[in-house]
Amino acid sequence: LKGVPAIKRLVLIGFSGSGKTTVGKLLAQTTSLPLYSIDQMVEDKAGISIPEIFERYGEEYFRQLESGIIKEVVEKGEGIIDCGGGVVERESNMQLLKSFGEIVWLKCPLETLLSRLEKNDRPLLKNKDILYIQEFFGRREVLYQRYGDITVNSDRDLPRIIAELLEILN
Ligand code: S3P
Repeated sequence: LKGVPAIKRLVLIGFSGSGKTTVGKLLAQTTSLPLYSIDQMVEDKAGISIPEIFERYGEEYFRQLESGIIKEVVEKGEGIIDCGGGVVERESNMQLLKSFGEIVWLKCPLETLLSRLEKNDRPLLKNKDILYIQEFFGRREVLYQRYGDITVNSDRDLPRIIAELLEILN
């Protein structure tokens, strides 16, 4: 299933730990498409880490940086956009991303996400109790469901996720 896929503009969304960055990297390698990792680009622009951005300037400032990077990235041609988990919080982000390409939701149960996020440094999840996280996860699932054109089960190993994605894209 190697080679250049028919669909060349892809957007990965999903909760923290759903595998967006890992899947994006391998998919980009496999397809030779460029990868745009929004979180990484935000950190490069700010010159500090995401936890530091939240700590010093707050979530709203982070969201502004994130939206700014998205505006730049959707101007590019082909490629894979690896989004931060909260990209769905702004309708305007999703309109831009929808105009860029196919939106893929990497869907994963909370149990698996939590085990992957054991050493988690996500400011919005850090030191939060399970009831809060369950409620937050529930709200986010509604948004991922709304915006995803394609849903892929990411509760399994990487090669299988990539194989399914390539099959869908061809
Ligand atoms: C966020 C998820 C993070 C990062 C930021 C906010 C969120 O990205 O963008 O901490 O609101 O869910 P990951 O999905 O890579 O954890």
